[in-house]
Amino acid sequence: MSTTTLVVGGTGTVGHNVAAGLRAAGADVVVATRDPARAQGGAEGVRRVRFDFTDGSSFGPALEGVDQVFLLAPPGYAAAHTLVAPFISALAASRVARVVLMTAAGVESSEEIPLRKVERLVEATGRRFVVLRPTWFSDNFHTFWLGGITAAGVIALPAADAKTPFIDARDIADAAVAALTSDRFDGRAFTLTGPTSLGYDEAAAILSRAADRAIRYVPIDDAPFRATLVSHGLPADYADLLVTLFQAARAGYLPAPNGAIEELTGHAPRTLEDYARDNARHWTQRA
Ligand SMILES: NC(=O)c1ccc[n+]([C@@H]2O[C@H](COP(=O)([O-])OP(=O)(O)OC[C@H]3O[C@@H](n4cnc5c(N)ncnc54)[C@H](OP(=O)(O)O)[C@@H]3O)[C@@H](O)[C@H]2O)c1
Repeated sequence: MSTTTLVVGGTGTVGHNVAAGLRAAGADVVVATRDPARAQGGAEGVRRVRFDFTDGSSFGPALEGVDQVFLLAPPGYAAAHTLVAPFISALAASRVARVVLMTAAGVESSEEIPLRKVERLVEATGRRFVVLRPTWFSDNFHTFWLGGITAAGVIALPAADAKTPFIDARDIADAAVAALTSDRFDGRAFTLTGPTSLGYDEAAAILSRAADRAIRYVPIDDAPFRATLVSHGLPADYADLLVTLFQAARAGYLPAPNGAIEELTGHAPRTLEDYARDNARHWTQRA
């Protein structure tokens, strides 16, 4: 009998690629989503199940028949551990044998960091687990930072001249699929990076070339960045969290490019040029 994987966040940037990658590998996949009727465009043959971290009654049906879970905490919640803990308790009482958990690069630096607490909760289940800690996604340029690019050709962030080893969500998903389809990586944690550390000015130049339009980086202070996030509906405590992440980036606490993607997947991580070429359609439409 084949292994069934529940993909939490399976409609999102990383998770939809995890679901597609597992299907391509011939695995049985269940995508967890708050609204199975709305969730469109998933990989063929993928079943959807209603699942909401805030609704404990959704946990049992979502975990039925599931052997392993790809887990992440959705963005927007500063206290990620509080949101996710009830589901991890349900998982610990289920037949799930392995969890592949995605958190974020650097969370191991303090036990007080919410996503580090999520890692500890997963460890405490006693199940086999793999932790994936990606750095900043390349994909943020067509998700979080898209509005400024389409409206004005501007990426306005409080990153100063920090250099980031941007990672393509497809590589994170490939790493997750590797961890979900082999026992070799059990018990390990991986910091996931792209191949090159780049400043946002260099990233903007790469996007400009791919989209054939001028896109520039405008370094801004923390306060206007925070105000913009809140004006777009982000909870104030999550906006504060993002501000501290950029403070850490400015202070040099981003990982250096490493070989984890190659070790997990057998292929080199995609470059920002690869990402920009494959996503240029997002930035060519002007507001
Ligand atoms: N962006 C970055 O640069 C970066 C870097 C490092 C780590 N991370 C981490 O990556 C994670 C986010 O991954 P992503 O960008 O792939 O996600 P995403 O695209 O923002 O998608 C969020 C997913 O979470 C699901 N979701 C939202 N609220 C939920 C709830 N209450 N119950 C159940 N599911 C819920 C959504 O599903 P439905 O809407 O279908 O319910 C969706 O599939 C976060 O933990 C973040 O800290 C991000």
